[in-house]
Amino acid sequence: MEKKIIIGSDHGGFGLKESLKNALEDLAYHIEDIGCYNTNSVHYPNIAEKVASSISTGKFEKGILICGTGIGMSIVANRFKQVRAALCHDHFTAKMAREHNDSNLLVLGGRVIGDEVAKDILITWLETDFQGGRHQERVNMIDQSPPS
Ligand code: RB5
Repeated sequence: MEKKIIIGSDHGGFGLKESLKNALEDLAYHIEDIGCYNTNSVHYPNIAEKVASSISTGKFEKGILICGTGIGMSIVANRFKQVRAALCHDHFTAKMAREHNDSNLLVLGGRVIGDEVAKDILITWLETDFQGGRHQERVNMIDQSPPS
């Protein structure tokens, strides 16, 4: 089965996005890059909406968003049903985001972490399985509104 992933960034995450695309190609992923395509200033909510809606509708199972801090992208993406966007800063948070939260959208801060740490996070996040069990019940609660 083809491995595919959708990725987007604003200007604050553009450099890291380009770097991570190389790592994704090495892992044989088909990449849908929805921009931005240079360092000109863009509005992160527009980018986050494109990626998060693709996850929410099931068009893509996994996605990546990058802005300067990762915070703006996280805030927008987690408004979409079925989206579990995780802002990860290191190997441990990437591992936990998958094992405990079944994260389907990885968020990174291009002005916070370097390319090699980001690559480690990406590979860890892609290759770590959800643990299920007690965590499944908690994940099921996320899309209930209001949470109970
Ligand atoms: C853009 O300057 C910056 O605000 C954006 O990349 C992001 O960090 C927002 O959360």
